[in-house]
Amino acid sequence: MFSNYPTVNYIGNKLKVSQWIIDKLPIRKGKVLDLFCGGCSMSYKFKQHGFCVYANDVLYSNFALAKALIENHKERLKLDNIELEKFYNLKNYLSLQWMVNKLYFDYEVRELVSLKNYSQQLKSYDKFIFLSLLRRAMIRKIPYSRMTMKWEEIVKFRDEELSYQKYKRRRAYHNKPFLYHINKEMQTYNLAVFDNQQKNKAFQMDCLQLIKKFERDKESFDLVYIDPPYPSTMNNYLGFYGGFDKVFEKELSKITDFTKKDSFLDNFVLLLNECKKISKVVALSLNNKCTPSVKDIQSEIQKISKNIMIFEKPHVYKVTGKNNKKIHKELLMVIIF
Ligand SMILES: C[S@@+](CC[C@H](N)C(=O)[O-])C[C@H]1O[C@@H](n2cnc3c(N)ncnc32)[C@H](O)[C@@H]1O
Repeated sequence: MFSNYPTVNYIGNKLKVSQWIIDKLPIRKGKVLDLFCGGCSMSYKFKQHGFCVYANDVLYSNFALAKALIENHKERLKLDNIELEKFYNLKNYLSLQWMVNKLYFDYEVRELVSLKNYSQQLKSYDKFIFLSLLRRAMIRKIPYSRMTMKWEEIVKFRDEELSYQKYKRRRAYHNKPFLYHINKEMQTYNLAVFDNQQKNKAFQMDCLQLIKKFERDKESFDLVYIDPPYPSTMNNYLGFYGGFDKVFEKELSKITDFTKKDSFLDNFVLLLNECKKISKVVALSLNNKCTPSVKDIQSEIQKISKNIMIFEKPHVYKVTGKNNKKIHKELLMVIIF
């Protein structure tokens, strides 16, 4: 084994079951496409196991992570004491003003402006390590780690006295500057960079568009790993993290929606039929709480392939906050075409 995956804080990540998933796969080496890579926990595990990894997600924040940790094999970030004031400008402040008293206080948005400008003069992979750290800092400063929190709630939970009286936790980290969080985690992100002697790649594309691109380029895979944002789960990824993409003006306009129960199966069948054109094996993560049910999904898959293996494992899925622990059965379906 090589380096350790750093703290990414990604809702619905597969970190705890990643080794179990790898153990159940019918292949031990080759080229893998992680089509919905999210926080890159599976991509990183694939990389550690020596696979050639292509990591993709619609979110720019996840693309930045994939660039920093999956594609990058040696560059590390160095930050000399940044003189933040030097990077501040009014034009970018005006373009980020939508965040003021929505996600952060005014003085914090001003810091963000400087950090955005600073990132834009970084070259190559150190820029993506910096962006990954900034993403983590932005999330860490928001209570419950998601940008869908209402401003009144953010203000309430960021009141350290109130938080202590009510929850016996000050949560002082919400009130630290972005740069504090960046510096705090920089070493663990740098140490997570390693070379697995493969040409790994990162993409920010809609899953269907990306597969079509591979078809055109006659590029094939030994395995496609699929972990979409299933209906009836914590699946509002554009809401949770999309604010980061908006800051960097990198939002995608056309995204196939897997979050709605009425259209899920149609889109899923479309996706599987596309995957079939670029890979003989698809591994699909799902859990017993999603709607449509595992049975419904399975019966659609059986129309495409009769060769399916299903593995299951109890998994405590922790949404931030101790009252939200739920016991799910984690499932892995391996489909061979
Ligand atoms: C359940 S999460 C993946 C979690 C990931 N396996 C991990 O371990 O962190 C689903 C991901 O799919 C991405 N996504 C949603 N719709 C997509 C689409 N049409 N094409 C590509 N990615 C998409 C979301 O941004 C989200 O990061």
